[in-house]
Amino acid sequence: MNATILRAEHLTLRRRGVAVLDDVSLTLPAGQTLALIGESGAGKSTLAYAAMGLLRPPEVALEGELWVGDTEVVGASERTLRPLRGVRMGMIFQDASAALNPCFTVLDHLAEPLRRHRKLGKAACRERAIDLLASVGIGDPASRLQAYPHELSGGMQQRVMIAIALACEPQLLIADEPTSALDVTIQAQIMSLVLERVRALGASAIFVLHDLALATQVADRVAVMYAGQIVEEGPAREVLNHPRHPYTRGLRASAVEFDAHRLAPIAGVVPSLSAMPSGCRFAPRCAAASAQCSQARPTPTAHGDVHIACWHP
Ligand SMILES: Nc1ncnc2c1ncn2[C@@H]1O[C@H](COP(=O)(O)OP(=O)(O)OP(=O)(O)O)[C@@H](O)[C@H]1O
Ligand code: SF4
Ligand SMILES: [Mg+2]
Repeated sequence: MNATILRAEHLTLRRRGVAVLDDVSLTLPAGQTLALIGESGAGKSTLAYAAMGLLRPPEVALEGELWVGDTEVVGASERTLRPLRGVRMGMIFQDASAALNPCFTVLDHLAEPLRRHRKLGKAACRERAIDLLASVGIGDPASRLQAYPHELSGGMQQRVMIAIALACEPQLLIADEPTSALDVTIQAQIMSLVLERVRALGASAIFVLHDLALATQVADRVAVMYAGQIVEEGPAREVLNHPRHPYTRGLRASAVEFDAHRLAPIAGVVPSLSAMPSGCRFAPRCAAASAQCSQARPTPTAHGDVHIACWHP
């Protein structure tokens, strides 16, 4: 079976006329996990939010295609998209303390999608909420149902958010830096919990990550983003252990998690979205750049199972 859970075709997203995503094409087979990596401002969160159908006109202008399963997100009405969120797609945000409503209890948060999408009654919601809390490793779950977010530790809040995202057993989980607001000691626990739950559901996942070593551990595939474009995409281990795009090589060399003793930061800064160089956007920072690079944009080309947008990979 060749089912795909996510397919972007020449997707461009503009905010106030500026292309924040520019001609992005990407396919994620169903049941696989994808890591989106790249420097701050690359457009990782924008792509993740667009896939959830959370970025729509008139806030942004969309061109191209963006499919989640058999639903075309570009041009879909809010009425079409609303039932998909929480049911077919679940989202874990970076900061649980900001995402959870301080006025609602844990039970209120968990019951809302169950009532709305699964039409469960009060007693069934409570029972399912207890099961969900237990499944994300919260001890004595019944006693936590009436807790408010501020009564929980950061790790526990994140577990509650994972339980909410998975409440209706989505086919696609999108997690935007799910552990970066947490203490390092519990980051690994939370990440392995998310992965374990995704696998238990047979779901797909998109993780926005800064940690490249973590990406090789949790993701089947990786898409490397630079200045609103995908520059290299393919199997995570192949791309991150043997990067071929100069930007991916630069990221790898500057990643403290791979070799803290031989750090080589990428020179220069990401260009402003409103003043992008023509041709390859990485050219001003690339040691391998040729005259061709600043004249024409490299189109993504297949090299085996890896797609690379570079004239000289
Ligand atoms: N609400 C907004 N209004 C205008 N521009 C925005 C808005 N949100 C993001 N941007 C811009 O869009 C670009 C992509 O932002 P995005 O948040 O997707 O990046 P990111 O790769 O997730 O970065 P980070 O790693 O810092 O989270 C950036 O240049 C950012 O400044
Ligand atoms: S296209 Fe040229 S400038 Fe761009 S990454 Fe490749 S070699 Fe460097
Ligand atoms: Mg982001």
